[in-house]
Amino acid sequence: MSSDPLLRQVLSGVDGSDERLNEIVSSLITHLHAFVSEVRPTEREWLAGLDFLTETGQRWCGPHRNEFILLSDMLGLTTAVDDVNHVGAAGMTPSSVQGPFHSPAPVRELGDWIATGPERERGTPAVVHGRVLGTDGTPVPGALVDVWQADDTGLYDSQDEQQDLGNLRALLTTGHDGGYWFRTIRPSSYPVPVDGTAGRLLKAIGRHPMRPAHVHVQVSAPGYRPLTTHVFLAGDPYLGSDAAYAVKPELVREPVRREAPDERWGMETPFEELEFDLRLVREEER
Ligand SMILES: [Fe+2]
Repeated sequence: MSSDPLLRQVLSGVDGSDERLNEIVSSLITHLHAFVSEVRPTEREWLAGLDFLTETGQRWCGPHRNEFILLSDMLGLTTAVDDVNHVGAAGMTPSSVQGPFHSPAPVRELGDWIATGPERERGTPAVVHGRVLGTDGTPVPGALVDVWQADDTGLYDSQDEQQDLGNLRALLTTGHDGGYWFRTIRPSSYPVPVDGTAGRLLKAIGRHPMRPAHVHVQVSAPGYRPLTTHVFLAGDPYLGSDAAYAVKPELVREPVRREAPDERWGMETPFEELEFDLRLVREEER
C-alpha cells in the first residue's frame, strides 16, 4: 500500500465486484499518480492533456476512424499488449498489430484480383501466395484468410474517394492443401494519418509517421487460435523505424521479380511474387 495519503485514499475507494477490473483500475491510478509526482505538470499542462484526449474522441473517432487505436499503435502500446498475450509456441507465425484500417472484406475466390480500377492499372502487379499450416506443418484447409492492404500511393479504400470500398481487400478460404493466393499490386509504404491528434503528437515529439510497406493478414480456422499479423516487404527504408512498432524479423519477405508472363499465376506481364506461409497454433497448444 502507498505511503501517499491521497493515493491511499483513492485506492481504498476501488472495491467493485469485478476483481480483475479493480486490479486494472488500481494499477492505472497508481501509475498516473506516479506520473504526476515525477512530471509535476502545471494545471495548464494537465488541462491541455485532457483537451487532447477530448478532441481525440470527439473529433477523430467514428465508424471509419479510431484515433485512439492510432495513438496506441504509435506509442508502442498495441505491440506491448500483443507481446504479453501472444508468447508464441515454437514454429508459429508471430502476431502483429491489427491497425486502424481493418473493415469487412468482400468474399473472393482463390486467385482473384483484389486490386481493381486505376490502382490495378498503375501499380506493380504482384502475386501473393502461401499456405496455412499448423506448427507441425499440417495443412489447414478451409481456413479463412482476411487480407487488406494500401495501394501504390499508400492509401486504403476507406481513406480514398477514388477507390471502391472493398478494393485491395479479400476474404479467402484455403484449399485442400491449406494454400491461398491472390493477385494484387505491390503495396507502398505510407504515413499514418497526420491530420488528427496522433499526427500532432508525432510532429511535436519529432518522429516521422511512416509505416513500411505491408499486407495485413488475419487467419482463423476451427481448432486453431486466430492470428492477426502482417507481411512486410524486404528492402523498405522504414523497416527499422515503423511508426507502429509492428515489424518482427520473421514477418519480412523478399518479393521476387518475375520478368516473364506466368500462366500458372495468370500473369500476362512481369510481376512480383511474394510467398508467405502462416503457421497457426492449435487451441490446446501452449
Ligand atoms: Fe496498414
